[in-house]
Amino acid sequence: MFARSTAARTLAQRAFSSSARAERKVAVLGAGGGIGQPMSLLLKTDPLVTSLSLYDIRGAPGVAADISHVNTKASCKGYEQADIGSALKGAEVVVIPAGVPRKPGMTRDDLFNTNASIVRDLAKACAEHCPKAMICIISNPVNSTVPIFAEVFKKAGVFDPKRLFGVTTLDVVRSSTFLSQIQGTDPKDTRVTVMYVGDILRGGHSGVTIVPLLSQTEVAKGVTGQAYKDLVKRIQFGGDEVVQAKAGTGSATLSMGYAGAIFVNSLIRGMNGEKNVVEPTFVKSPLFESEGVEYFSSNVELGANGVEKIHPVGQLSAEEQELLNACLPDLKKNIAKGVEFAKAS
Ligand code: NAI
Repeated sequence: MFARSTAARTLAQRAFSSSARAERKVAVLGAGGGIGQPMSLLLKTDPLVTSLSLYDIRGAPGVAADISHVNTKASCKGYEQADIGSALKGAEVVVIPAGVPRKPGMTRDDLFNTNASIVRDLAKACAEHCPKAMICIISNPVNSTVPIFAEVFKKAGVFDPKRLFGVTTLDVVRSSTFLSQIQGTDPKDTRVTVMYVGDILRGGHSGVTIVPLLSQTEVAKGVTGQAYKDLVKRIQFGGDEVVQAKAGTGSATLSMGYAGAIFVNSLIRGMNGEKNVVEPTFVKSPLFESEGVEYFSSNVELGANGVEKIHPVGQLSAEEQELLNACLPDLKKNIAKGVEFAKAS
């Protein structure tokens, strides 16, 4: 039975470590999609979620009817396009996997044209119906869609930088899996901090600038030379592995659904008063502001009001520092592209 699966158990265990209980309505926008469906199912199995509101421009009522038969406490209702106001009313957490995914050969930035306007319009709806909700953006390119969302909220006069998150948990999930495969450890004890710095294009090849901080990871000690290089590459290009294997039918959906549900669980645990809940996430950040980079993904402590504390990136190895220096200008461009789009809209 699904409710007994490892993923559900993980969410349940994490839930039981929280002392406070509260009503938590979670809305998923894009719930009918490849990510939206499995993520909604996992959220239905999370004891911290008390109500699930599933919205999509197609198929959400069907997905909700199906998921609502899972015998866990959360209520679950689906909404069609005209009902976005009802879907969002009272939502404390909104997760957004709406948009188009990558096809082979595409970078996340190639998705900009379509996803930018989808995220902008959903942001307008959130500003109107649930301006105080915690917003978790999955739609790519996250480096641009998060700033777009922020600009729409600013225009509406409701922006709170502590409540807006770009979901980068999948990189952490992948890192933990790949490293544990090499070291023979249990993935749950194999946590790697990852800085997600977005896509870069170099020499005609697309590359993902995801910087795994293996030098800060105890379990990674001893992974050196070619093994280190291969691991970094696999973490950086894990998304491409899935895009290629799916051969044109989409990108990571099931693992992303899992990662999204894990992030929401952490967020709610923080909202419920649990201390020391830390997840890497892409937020408005002071870390590289002096270099003109307004948003950055690093470890963030989550609390009652969202972002409680942004952790510094810590001591980097020479290789990690080089990778970071190389990608900050690209990140800055991705952010500016989002801001300009929103301002021109
Ligand atoms: P999909 O195409 O399977 O699902 C997208 C869903 O969004 C569809 O059901 C579609 O009807 C819905 N949608 C489109 N416009 C909408 C609107 N205006 N309002 C509400 N729903 C709308 O795509 P998939 O695979 O679920 O991916 C979704 C997004 O997540 C993509 O942009 C993808 O690149 C991104 N992604 C992000 C990751 C991350 O680490 N942050 C990892 C993997 C994918």
